Amino acid sequence: MSKMKDGAKKYIPFQQIHLPDRQWPGRVIEKAPIWCSVDLRDGNQALVDPMNMEEKLTFFHTLCDMGFKEIEVGFPSASETEYEICRELIEGGHIPDDVAIQVLVQARPHLIQKTFEAIKGAKNVIVHFYNSTSTLQRKVVFKKDMDGIIQIAVDGAKLIKELTDAYDGDCNIRYEYSPESFSGTEMDNAVKICAAVLDELGATAENKVILNLPNTVEMCTPNTYADQVEYFIRHLPGRERAIISIHPHNDRGTGVAATELALLAGAERVEGTLFGNGERTGNLDIVTTALNMYTQGVDPELDLTDIPKLRRIYEECTRMQVHERHPYAGELVFTAFSGSHQDAINKGTEYMQTSGTGKWEIPYLPIDPADVGRQYEPIIRINSQSGKGGAAFVMQHAFGLTLPKEMHPEFGTMVKHKCDQLGRELSNEELMQVFREGYLEIPEKYRMTEYAFSGASSRDGRIRFAGTIEADGRPHQVVGEGNGPIDAFFRALHHAGIDGYQFVNYSEHAVSSGADSQAIAYIQLKTPAGRNIFGVGLDHSINVASVKGVLCAINRAESAK
Ligand code: KIV
Ligand code: ZN
Repeated sequence: MSKMKDGAKKYIPFQQIHLPDRQWPGRVIEKAPIWCSVDLRDGNQALVDPMNMEEKLTFFHTLCDMGFKEIEVGFPSASETEYEICRELIEGGHIPDDVAIQVLVQARPHLIQKTFEAIKGAKNVIVHFYNSTSTLQRKVVFKKDMDGIIQIAVDGAKLIKELTDAYDGDCNIRYEYSPESFSGTEMDNAVKICAAVLDELGATAENKVILNLPNTVEMCTPNTYADQVEYFIRHLPGRERAIISIHPHNDRGTGVAATELALLAGAERVEGTLFGNGERTGNLDIVTTALNMYTQGVDPELDLTDIPKLRRIYEECTRMQVHERHPYAGELVFTAFSGSHQDAINKGTEYMQTSGTGKWEIPYLPIDPADVGRQYEPIIRINSQSGKGGAAFVMQHAFGLTLPKEMHPEFGTMVKHKCDQLGRELSNEELMQVFREGYLEIPEKYRMTEYAFSGASSRDGRIRFAGTIEADGRPHQVVGEGNGPIDAFFRALHHAGIDGYQFVNYSEHAVSSGADSQAIAYIQLKTPAGRNIFGVGLDHSINVASVKGVLCAINRAESAK
């Protein structure tokens, strides 16, 4: 019997609502919602050390730069600090003309009064008032029936309307009402209280009120929240008088999913925070939600092109850490360690380069890291799980060395051996060192001390190689003629007593540009014992690089004997 079986009995399963003709499953997200950041309020109130003035201002400016047009800046009636921050934003001229600050307040008269004092002088303000409506809170906290709860909201709305009418100044004041714990409220009660608030505020299609439907504590599966949102919208009288907003939290770890499904259900506005900071398990993560849209071809209408910078500011201001596996933003999310993944990324990258496809088509990378400012990431990192393709990818992308495919297994084995030996990941430099030790800094039984090619322009096109090869320290004059430099060199080798090797294949490319350009040649030989072996030659002359590669392969084979 499971150890959890008895414990599970004390929980009440969440009740689904009845919506058999739900429409949302057949829809897709086609445009970005109105985003509202609640970092400075919901996010801030969940911090061990709330942000100080300077941090809040930095964060505020960052949000403006990202393109947020609605930003909840705090709860100015809740404390002197909150009040002062609101004043500084207004008096310090920090708020762009096209940005509305949002101020949260409970539907209680003295707090509403104080909130109106706090917003004096601002250009665009959303007064966001709320009271809790859930079945559980009514039972255990307020001990009021639904009519009593509706009365609180309506009284709040009435006072807010009066204070707006009496407001002395030029301010565009809009309203937002939240039936807090919406998802824990009977849907007909949620509709009823919101309709009463719309009536009291005199909402019209031209003067809409934001109705915010919080998933204050996420207690149900995302499809259930979507059903609730769709039900609410379909039953709200005069739905055109409202902008439907959602405010998901993440208690079940499905805040992003709940948001996406609620958008399908008709939500038009989303409240959340960067990287999902917020009470308990956090608010909705706007970064993830927006980039999910982006990877589906939808403009998120937020600037997320420099995630490392956003992450740095976020971490400095909140003293929270973005997890290494956090979607799009974590340290490790663009890194593949697994061999088969590395191989597929390698092939995808090649495909992107050769096919001319205008689309992003790389397996295991749902987004182009460069789009979010992650272009310098080591996409592929090398440990003992990595495969031959991964090592080749790093050699190509970090050092510009295009190892031929046939060579990947041989080099991959060297790399794996090194990882096993060290018991850890290899840095790119260490990988390069494996390459050097494996191919360029090897014991040389045979050493070429002099060399010259001639005859390339002769009528028969044959090439002559002449040089000196030391075999175990003893010099041999060698000459050979062939239909190319490698062929000529091979024939010359016979004079140094080197026989039985067969040429299989070769490839070459330039390794650096400009005056100091060098050539690298990769040579594949078959040893007298029939084994395939590779050699690498590096030189300013491509002919010399090739013959150095041949000798390298032979020396490697000899030292392995
Ligand atoms: O989570 C919540 O319900 C809230 C409200 C105050 C909107 O933060
Ligand atoms: Zn909240």
